[in-house]
Amino acid sequence: MNLSQKIKTITPSYTIGISTKVKALKSEGKSIIDLSIGEPDFFTPEKAKLEGIDAIARNESKYDMVPGLMALRKAIVQKLKTENNVSYDVADIVVSSGAKHAITNTLLATLDPGDEVIVPKPYWTSYPEMIKLCGGVPVLVDTQIENQFKLTIDELKSAITPKTKMLLINNPSNPTGAVYTMAELEPLVNLCIEKELFILADEIYERICYTDTFTSIPTLSPEAKAITILVNGLSKSVAMTGWRIGYTASSPEIAKAISTIQGHLVSHPSIVSQWAGAVALTDCLDDMSAMVSEYKLRRDLLVERLQKIKNVTFIQPDGAFYLFIDLSYFKDKFEAERSVSLKIGDDLLLQYNLAVVPGIAFGNDHCIRLSYATELSLVQEGLNRIETYLNQL
Ligand SMILES: Cc1ncc(COP(=O)(O)O)c(C=O)c1O
Repeated sequence: MNLSQKIKTITPSYTIGISTKVKALKSEGKSIIDLSIGEPDFFTPEKAKLEGIDAIARNESKYDMVPGLMALRKAIVQKLKTENNVSYDVADIVVSSGAKHAITNTLLATLDPGDEVIVPKPYWTSYPEMIKLCGGVPVLVDTQIENQFKLTIDELKSAITPKTKMLLINNPSNPTGAVYTMAELEPLVNLCIEKELFILADEIYERICYTDTFTSIPTLSPEAKAITILVNGLSKSVAMTGWRIGYTASSPEIAKAISTIQGHLVSHPSIVSQWAGAVALTDCLDDMSAMVSEYKLRRDLLVERLQKIKNVTFIQPDGAFYLFIDLSYFKDKFEAERSVSLKIGDDLLLQYNLAVVPGIAFGNDHCIRLSYATELSLVQEGLNRIETYLNQL
């Protein structure tokens, strides 16, 4: 059977590979601590759940508008105004089936074959594959741990070519947890304006941020807003991963293009999820704050613990719920290996019953990623096991 050329260029998801291994080990009766999953360990807030149930009872079961329910788009506009201080119209918003879908829609709407998209490394694992699937070319740019793995203006300048169409920036970052300050973003964004590049700003972790202020890219200037497609969603901030609600906010022209694509591919996300999402955004702010406080508490304790492990380097995460741990110090022990992080990941899983994501999944083979969207005591035990493993190397 001849499958498409496209599928031959795509790397299967490392994270799905790990969960398959974890499931197999669990079915053999092993007790695994799984820190590989980027999913909140909280349940969807009660009010949002009740609205979902009520929407079913009200027979909210018909097709609706492609860019999303009016009630939800109004709630998104309101959220962007009050929380992020940026004004959009309802016509600028397209609700999609998760941020993943919002990103894919955006790439389909903006890329021609061969267009280059600059992606700072380490990157969220799906970006390069999504770009390739949409006909683009991912240009993966190295960043430095000294800069908290944040892209600098010089790194951006040296990556731009006549084929560059877009900068994809994830803030706060998965996997590093780094958060760009306004001063760090401004030169990057101004260069994109000057070079007439789009910015895809994936701000899915924006609410899970432990700094006093968070700078959303469209707030920087009207010119910044004009070139930016903002992506956000409810998976991480309101613990609604399975409901599949994400969205874009952009110029009306881009929103129309995204909506046209979505209209042919999926129409719109589940109506029940959209009703629940509208309530989540308007009525569940306290629930969201409680989750963020808990993540922050865990972050503080885990950073304290990590500092006690010898010869590991990490940056203090200011957002999201990941620890990205640099194990470069130990790399000589793995000279014969095809991949340092895959070997470490396998050792931890098979010898220590601990699942983490190898950094190679994010374009950095000397790191591993742990999620602390998991009960604190389990993450603490996970760090104990990592320490024991590293000590015997
Ligand atoms: C950086 C980043 N963007 C987008 C997504 C996709 O989120 P969603 O569940 O809304 O599709 C994830 C999920 O892990 C993510 O980490």
